[in-house]
Amino acid sequence: MTTQQNATQIINEIKESAQDQKITAREQMEALNPEAKNLQFWIRTQKNAPAQEPWFSAAGANDTGKLASGQVGKNQLKALPYRWRWSDYRPYLEKISQIAAHADVAPVEFADRQSIVLMNPGLTDRIQVTNTIRCSISIYNPGDIAPAHVHSPNASRTILTDNGGYTNIEGERCEARRGDVILTPNGTWHDHGNDGEEPVIWIDTLDWPLMEYLDCAWVDQDFQGAFNTTDRTQPVRHVDGYSQKLYSNGGLRPTFVSHQRGFSQRLTPLFHYAGTDIRDTLLELKDEAGDPFEGIHMELVNPVTGESVFPTLRYGAQLLRPHEATQLKRETSSQYLVVLEGEGYTEVNGQKLDWKPNDVIAVPNFLWRRHVNTSDKDAILYSVSDAALMKNIGQYRAQGKDRDGKVIQIEV
Ligand SMILES: [Fe+2]
Repeated sequence: MTTQQNATQIINEIKESAQDQKITAREQMEALNPEAKNLQFWIRTQKNAPAQEPWFSAAGANDTGKLASGQVGKNQLKALPYRWRWSDYRPYLEKISQIAAHADVAPVEFADRQSIVLMNPGLTDRIQVTNTIRCSISIYNPGDIAPAHVHSPNASRTILTDNGGYTNIEGERCEARRGDVILTPNGTWHDHGNDGEEPVIWIDTLDWPLMEYLDCAWVDQDFQGAFNTTDRTQPVRHVDGYSQKLYSNGGLRPTFVSHQRGFSQRLTPLFHYAGTDIRDTLLELKDEAGDPFEGIHMELVNPVTGESVFPTLRYGAQLLRPHEATQLKRETSSQYLVVLEGEGYTEVNGQKLDWKPNDVIAVPNFLWRRHVNTSDKDAILYSVSDAALMKNIGQYRAQGKDRDGKVIQIEV
């Protein structure tokens, strides 16, 4: 039988079968999909068509866009708004710290780090808080060391404990204090440790899920330089405050050093953003009008280019003054927030997520959100968002609502 005859026979069989069972053409096509799946293809039907609503035209408070159905839907990742409370996760950090402290083997032998990794409930067991960002919260006991390594994901530590612990990046030792943001850009050798008396806790942030998606996530532990000691840490070539002295005096850029540190492209040469500098700057600007959607908001930038610190992630810090309530805003980018000071709530897609210090909140893209400081004291939030990536690929858009509820284009 020729191929043509074969196809005609199949069509006739389907027609007869359909007439017998009174099924529609759509159902007939859909019925072919289980066997097509075995041959590694699928037959496109309306059931499998993309169903995402244009995000910018749906203006209702609870408009989220929709997941597509069928095969297309299976490929969609949609994070949910979520809050991880310090009061919930802190006991687990203390438990794993105790287990590690009394372990019969070195911590590095049973876990790379003592940390919890946050999982967004919308992302089905993936260890990520948004589509692009992974957050783990680590505890380092006195004496703990993470040996020198380098990786393709961009990463940072946001310090939660008052002081103690350090990160050595490309030979620069950065002492960790509460509110500091210490960056380890893609392509920079770094090691961490705690040589103090108390455990230290910080949030590790990485664009790991994005690198994973691109099949570009790798780690190299084979440091070729001379080690400091047998603990596989780097020697200190620059003391604490080196990159801050070079780059943290507003508007001044040193001309006698190379801004290339490490071996990747577009990395910021400033590794250490001090919490005290961030806080002082926000408070000095407290009497300014600020942004109706963000309050007094500053971005942590690459001091050489003025761009976001990573080509993928934008880091921000914002002050919400006592009882300040921002107006609704939504973006094509996703972010997570960590509360440094104060009490209040963030409303995301109509859902109120109240917060206190050290709580972490996932704010997925597209959803209307606003922040409210409910107390008589200042509140400070830090954010990490993939707005930098979205801008770099021409996908960043933002809308707000004015006091009358009218939609305003913030960035088209
Ligand atoms: Fe690392």
